Amino acid sequence: MRALVTGGCGFIGSHMVRALVRDGWEVVNLDRMTYAANPANVAAVADHPNYRFVQGDICDGGLVRELLEGADAVLNFAAETHVDRSLLEPGAFVRADVEGVVSLLEALRERPGTVFVHMSTDEVFGSVPAPLEMREDAPFAPSSPYAASKAAAELMIRAYAETYGLGATVVRSCNVYGPNQHMEKFIPLFTLRALAGEPMPLYGDGLQEREWLYVEDLVEALRLVLRGASAEPGVRAVHVGSGERLRNREVAELICELLERPRELIRPVADRPGHDRRYALDSSRLRAMGWAPRRRFAEGLALTVAWYRDHGEAWARTANGDFSAYFARQYGERLGTREG
Ligand code: TYD
Repeated sequence: MRALVTGGCGFIGSHMVRALVRDGWEVVNLDRMTYAANPANVAAVADHPNYRFVQGDICDGGLVRELLEGADAVLNFAAETHVDRSLLEPGAFVRADVEGVVSLLEALRERPGTVFVHMSTDEVFGSVPAPLEMREDAPFAPSSPYAASKAAAELMIRAYAETYGLGATVVRSCNVYGPNQHMEKFIPLFTLRALAGEPMPLYGDGLQEREWLYVEDLVEALRLVLRGASAEPGVRAVHVGSGERLRNREVAELICELLERPRELIRPVADRPGHDRRYALDSSRLRAMGWAPRRRFAEGLALTVAWYRDHGEAWARTANGDFSAYFARQYGERLGTREG
């Protein structure tokens, strides 16, 4: 069996590439190698005979069509994913997350038997007031340009299913964390800042709630979904959530505890504009299929923090792109410094 995986040098994509190669799939990894890609994420399979890397853009229709030849499945992880960056540069999100998906859909139209699994997010629903949990058929109400671009991609997938009889599985996950996640994201950023003894910039009152899932549990969910996925016309959505919801401040405090750093490092700073208060998924459909997360948050966080402590610095050095320029732009004023 052969899979085309897009964005396979990013966080979730690389965990999935490694799992698929382990499972015996032939994997073609198409990655544009943006700032979010890190070749070290796929070093473990780089020389494997069943693995092939192609540097390129999912918006390149000719290339996608060529790589789809002989593929049984396409798994799309290629995306711009960071909300804060989407506030600075919405156009990049429309291009990668919407136009990129349309490019994949155009190529898939010519290959009706191919399974298509698309990675989406709980953010398409916008902020979810407690105690609600969103089911797969809940209406979209995205807040950020990132969330809107992921919702738009899903709408294009639906349109292709309706008009051209395309089949797709859309996986909406809650916040994912674990080794190899880019340091711009909350848990890696706070961990690396705490390790360095630097202030950890907590947006607003820090009482926003997120549902946290360990990356290997998401991989297990994706493997299960892929086993049952079909190319039958229509869109099938499935939610992957741990049910473990924590406030950002609590997560920051746990990171301080694990690293034996003072809580005073947690620095309240100007909030993110349009910051969603809470995300919550109802994942009963997937649980009925036999999936359950294996790692509790306390355990997954300890593993993650230990990974960044032991490997973070060396790994960050192999990352694509200049994080310090972004850090200065995003946090310089908030922290009252020009550091980074
Ligand atoms: P993030 O990892 O950006 O994921 P998302 O916004 O997609 O949920 O952020 C997780 C939460 O942490 C979110 O509520 C914003 C908050 N946050 C901070 O308080 N400070 C930060 O520097 C970052 C990056 C995030």
